[in-house]
Amino acid sequence: MITVDRIAELRTVVRQWRAEGARVGFVPTMGSLHAGHISLLAAARFRADRVISSVFVNPMQFGPSEDFERYPRSPVEDSQLLADAGCDLLFLPAVDEIYPEGRESATRISVKPLAGILEGAHRPGHFDGVATVVAKLFGIVQPDVAVFGEKDYQQLAIIRRMTADLDIPVEIVGAPTVRSPDGLAMSSRNRYLSTAERALAPRIHTALKAAAARVDQGERDYAVIMEQGARELRDAGMQPDYFEVRDAATLLPPVPATRELVILVAARLGKARLIDNLRVALR
Ligand code: PAF
Repeated sequence: MITVDRIAELRTVVRQWRAEGARVGFVPTMGSLHAGHISLLAAARFRADRVISSVFVNPMQFGPSEDFERYPRSPVEDSQLLADAGCDLLFLPAVDEIYPEGRESATRISVKPLAGILEGAHRPGHFDGVATVVAKLFGIVQPDVAVFGEKDYQQLAIIRRMTADLDIPVEIVGAPTVRSPDGLAMSSRNRYLSTAERALAPRIHTALKAAAARVDQGERDYAVIMEQGARELRDAGMQPDYFEVRDAATLLPPVPATRELVILVAARLGKARLIDNLRVALR
């Protein structure tokens, strides 16, 4: 695996690959890698001849009171995991390489209708930071295909929309959430959990499955399902930010034409803020 920290170096390598006719896959990450990221690498490998991954903890997507400084960083382990997973090139830029004019970009991308709801309502500016850095990384890497986890369901929807609206010629692929055997979705932020909190955290998935089962049994009063879900999380000692049933295609409240739902949750548990989701087809 080649490791580079400069845009110019990355472009030199990619130019060579393209001259050889290679299809380039890309997996952007913030590092602190786990089995979920490795599954994204595998999905990219499957669709491309060469795979690039970036590890960049993007300051622009963290709010002033969020965990940018203490976000877990494990560059040595990340590099080993990526090499073992068949990554061809690791892009490891410093903040100055991505934001040479300061820690922000003068040009910001805002996917307006999607960025202010759900996660966006609780983390103002977060999705502008995500959309902007992903657009920049697409401009730097110019991949044919890029893979993102479905665990960050709203992020994936925003990236799809941004890519379509800006006519960026990158195929966006969503990869299924990877879970521990007890149901907890893999996340770098799981590292913030104490042993006792880690034992409680799978209750998020349990609550999601219970809500999906209520839909399957015919419950269509979504307010009841949302209230019940939030209560189950509070009973498990968490503080839910939201437990929402939405149209899986629009992320808006379900309407009669809705064919598939997504149930989205964000909950605080100790120092961690965890998110997860589950899709349910309507029959
Ligand atoms: O999902 C993440 O790790 C980040 O939001 C991303 C897509 C790498 C952008 O910084």
